[in-house]
Amino acid sequence: MIAGTVLDRAALMERYRRNRLRTAEIFALVNDGAFYDRPIPLRHPFAFYEGHIPAFSFLVLNERGLGQDPLDPTFERLFERGIDPGSLDEARRHERRDWPARAAVAEFAARCDARVLAALESAKLEDAAVPRLARGQAAFTILEHEEMHQETLLYIVAELPYDRKRRMTATHEDRKLGPAEMRAVSAGTATIGANRDEIPFGWDNEFERTEVSVAAFGIASRPVTNGDWLRFVEQGGPVPHFWNRHDGSWRLRLLGEEIALPHSWPAYVTHRQATAYARWAGMRLPTEAEYHRAAFGTPAGDERPFPWGDEAPQPKHGNFGFARFDPESVDAHPDGDSAWGVGDLIGNGWEWTSTPFGPLPGFEPMASYPQYSADFFDGKHFVMKGGSPVTATSLIRRSLRNWFYDDYPYMFAKFRCVA
Ligand SMILES: [Fe+2]
Repeated sequence: MIAGTVLDRAALMERYRRNRLRTAEIFALVNDGAFYDRPIPLRHPFAFYEGHIPAFSFLVLNERGLGQDPLDPTFERLFERGIDPGSLDEARRHERRDWPARAAVAEFAARCDARVLAALESAKLEDAAVPRLARGQAAFTILEHEEMHQETLLYIVAELPYDRKRRMTATHEDRKLGPAEMRAVSAGTATIGANRDEIPFGWDNEFERTEVSVAAFGIASRPVTNGDWLRFVEQGGPVPHFWNRHDGSWRLRLLGEEIALPHSWPAYVTHRQATAYARWAGMRLPTEAEYHRAAFGTPAGDERPFPWGDEAPQPKHGNFGFARFDPESVDAHPDGDSAWGVGDLIGNGWEWTSTPFGPLPGFEPMASYPQYSADFFDGKHFVMKGGSPVTATSLIRRSLRNWFYDDYPYMFAKFRCVA
């Protein structure tokens, strides 16, 4: 929240309720019999996430932020933290077979929700003297934490076999695309991060506002598509995680169904694969600062909040905000093009950069969630920008930074090349 203004309690409660509803809809995709499945071995089972999201909200806002008494210490500890182990060996150390019954988890979640909503309604959410409550930090932290988990939950649902989740079919459009064109971006300043007074809320890795000088470069007008990637595969390149081959033709594994490979959709690949493709094409991945230049800079020299300008993000600007679970053609949203004519920068898949995830100058771990970023400053995670079809619209902001291991294959991430 901007200093001096008042938190809108009704809006916070409405957002919390909307989040809980969307989370419930995501869990409803999973068959009852799959509640303890771990389709991604490096992650906990669904049972954990059903308890984790409300437990985190209660812990961060009520217990640690407002100093309220615990609600259920055993469950709070059990559901406190997710895992991001670097290897299967390490993942095995987190394995447990005694997750509670679903009804007990649901009952605990309902108790957390009631307490969180009561706090949002009437507790002192903002207190400049308490770091966890400065600018309403704890309240925003729990809302964005849940929204981010909705995306990562869907990565996990995507890995669940089709006979263990709800089948979803839709009409999908493929288009004929010309080759990507290179757009020239002139030398200039890229502003990464933000000042604390600039945005209502940001995670610790978004501060402080950092200006970077960027030399002129050329960048592809659109992300690398499945059609582009197919030529790479034909010359010995790796096959993306979401592709399957049946009877001599390539298929794309979506969340709810498998379809013929749409050539005009972005290729979802790992950082390592993207880097290999760029090298094969005689190019490279953009740095985080180059992404910012291409997305938010203008030939006139100013920087804007979004590629398309100042307007708040809407469905016409890109494929984000859960309008659909799947990607679509990279040219589907010309209204989202940047000032340089670079398209599909926000939504339709996060965009890989060549920049290892690290702190901006002036970084300080946030009081509400000190491990959020600091645990990942290891040189093994890379910055992703933009957003995916299942990134909440509230997370579409210039300063937001996402990151993943360079070989983690499950997330919805695309890329483009620069020269
Ligand atoms: Fe979490």
